[in-house]
Amino acid sequence: MQEVKSGAAGAIELAVNAGRARAQAFCGRLGIEKPFLSAPMEGVAGVDLVAAVSEAGGLGVLPVGEMTPEEVAAAAAAVRAKTTKPFAFQIRIPPKGGRAPEALHQLADGLSAVFEDLGLPAPLSKEGRERYDFTLDRAAARFEAQFAAVLAARPAAVLSTSGGFREPEAEALFDARIVNIGTATTLREAKVLRAAKVDAVVLQGSEAGGPRANFEDRDDVMTGLNALVPAAAKATRLPVVAAGGVCGPEQALGLVLAGASAVMCGTALTGAAESLATPYTRRALVWADAAALTTTRLYTGRLVRCLRSPLLDALADYEAVLPAWPLPEVLMRPLTEAARRAGREELEAVFLGQSVGRSAYRTASEAVERITALIA
Ligand SMILES: Cc1cc2nc3c(=O)[nH]c(=O)nc-3n(C[C@H](O)[C@H](O)[C@H](O)COP(=O)(O)O)c2cc1C
Repeated sequence: MQEVKSGAAGAIELAVNAGRARAQAFCGRLGIEKPFLSAPMEGVAGVDLVAAVSEAGGLGVLPVGEMTPEEVAAAAAAVRAKTTKPFAFQIRIPPKGGRAPEALHQLADGLSAVFEDLGLPAPLSKEGRERYDFTLDRAAARFEAQFAAVLAARPAAVLSTSGGFREPEAEALFDARIVNIGTATTLREAKVLRAAKVDAVVLQGSEAGGPRANFEDRDDVMTGLNALVPAAAKATRLPVVAAGGVCGPEQALGLVLAGASAVMCGTALTGAAESLATPYTRRALVWADAAALTTTRLYTGRLVRCLRSPLLDALADYEAVLPAWPLPEVLMRPLTEAARRAGREELEAVFLGQSVGRSAYRTASEAVERITALIA
């Protein structure tokens, strides 16, 4: 009996050591100390959070969002003013052009009163048509300029979401010795990214807060990390980073045992002092649990996990007639940004994942320290 026990204990020890060694190898590749990445979270993960995560030994990931090239350069300098340690940028692969702006008309009609109330130009007015990027032409042009600025900033890694980089971009990253990390929501997407020669894959499980990063498969495939991590680690033989619902050391250890080389956390960092989360989001972190969340396509045209809200309830009928991803963002982004500026909490977009209510870290370094306690 004793022998069987020690045999199992020995096997567990071997598995833990193998997992830790895998995590350490990935850290070595990135030049970091702890197998922890902060999630790119527009409006939440700014310079302070990213620098704090990197300073704590993880890899802070700064989303470029709608930054101009000058803003990208300034953000890189601001992070470097706070830490000498490695950090990363995240950039979203833009959709192909040729979107039909008419598809936005119904939603634009439905939102016109709210736009007026927030002091925004009406979506379909002359001013609105100039201000909002109905054809997504600006998004495509912005990507090229942002990528060049990101490359020039020489971060340790660049993460892509909603697809992988094309060959010229992947080669430019390779030549600059910048680690190229893709994001997958399914096994198939992980294999597609491997074929596109990424160095590592973030696996976004269905538990995750915020927007789904799917690109080959539908957004409602919704594979959990328990199924995704071992399958993708084995099939790709690349380092995989587990993202979605991770908030504690035992989970991180379990994911590393399942094949992950690191974890990525979003929701667990939202309440940290360095995050840009609004007072409303910070209060929600106290009272909300997973049952307070919902998934909706209203913000982007693809599923987003977020807090239920009066705005989402009022717009529920539009889910059936939404234009394709990411067109709803053309209107929902200015709306939610204006709501945030005005402190209009009933209109705020609060993105949270299934760990909400179980992750109350006061600082980024506390989160990094604690979550990696069993794997670093
Ligand atoms: C507040 C918040 C904002 C987010 N914003 C973005 C974003 O701008 N771009 C993006 O690619 N992912 C975004 N995400 C998704 C994260 O990149 C990541 O997949 C997710 O946070 C992982 O799950 P977790 O929140 O349960 O840790 C966001 C997530 C949260 C919680």
